[in-house]
Amino acid sequence: MSLPARVRVCEMGARDGLQNEHTVISTGDKVRFIDLLTDAGFDYVEATSFVSPKAIPQLADAADVFTRIRKKPGVRHTVLVPNMKGYERARAVGADSIAVFTASSEAFTKRNINMTIDESIAVFGDVVRRAKAEGVWVRGYVSTAFGSPFGDRVTPAMVVNVSRKLMALGCDELSIGDTIGVGVPSQVDELVPALAREIPLDRLAFHFHDTRGTALANVYAALQHGISIFDASSGGLGGCPYAPGATGNVGTEDVLYMLHAMGIETGVDLDKVRAASRFIASVLDHMLTSKAFQAMEALSKK
Ligand code: HMG
Ligand code: MG
Repeated sequence: MSLPARVRVCEMGARDGLQNEHTVISTGDKVRFIDLLTDAGFDYVEATSFVSPKAIPQLADAADVFTRIRKKPGVRHTVLVPNMKGYERARAVGADSIAVFTASSEAFTKRNINMTIDESIAVFGDVVRRAKAEGVWVRGYVSTAFGSPFGDRVTPAMVVNVSRKLMALGCDELSIGDTIGVGVPSQVDELVPALAREIPLDRLAFHFHDTRGTALANVYAALQHGISIFDASSGGLGGCPYAPGATGNVGTEDVLYMLHAMGIETGVDLDKVRAASRFIASVLDHMLTSKAFQAMEALSKK
């Protein structure tokens, strides 16, 4: 069995992580968190979302955050945009890497962005066309690829169908999301080959939430199919307020610990991620869930 020698880990903590926090976090603390992550060696740090402030009040300061973070050559500070208004807000502060987001569940798409899947493809079609014309890099998310929080059935064929449409719009990369952390490795075994028949493997990322403890097993299953881009969140922060029961992304520390111990390179400094997690933990009202983070912190106190 040959696994990828190098993996790109895309850091989600400041966006997927903070969007789910109830404590009001100051703009300065968000900027400090992102700057610490930017220094850790990722080439992708998701920074914030230019969505409706009514939908995600925690990220209402997106423009200030984006303006104040330290930019670093080679690091994409990607921002979520749900429509042309979000695109224009993001561009006004100089964002050159965006993510559009839809899903394979109609019920989730309606609750999350108040559109049908087809409407979202039409809205994002305009956004992606404009982005490409302006030289902006684009990621597309397909959420609820392993199950919907609203009980509607999601099949691999439905995931492939939405993915194909997003790629046809001109997305540079797709991220396939287990939004509510229900997926298991046998689903990965079915889904990756189905996607790979239409989309080059090196343009496919996987985005696992760890709600039921299956995220690292899913990462390993995807690695075996040649997937080499994974989303993860510092300390295991994360969740979508529009997906009941969703908890954090797989912890970046957990993914890095596993990959590095297996001899797979990432270019990311685990100790620096841990420092970023420690910082954000100091402004939150709860413990971080990443097991590797907890273990390293406990050992360092001995
Ligand atoms: P809507 O209410 O249908 O939109 O929301 P609307 O166009 O009717 O506008 C309503 C109001 O919002 C108007 O203001 C607009 O101007 C304003 P009002 O006239 O009432 O004062 N508005 C905006 N303001 C700022 N920026 C904008 C914007 N757009 C409209 N971009 C909408 C539709 C899509 C806007 C809304 O539902 C929304 O923002 N949703 C975002 C939800 C979200 O961020 N969810 C979490 C991210 S997805 C996720 O976490 C999953 C992921 O991690 C992968 C995975 O885990 O699977 C990516
Ligand atoms: Mg997510």
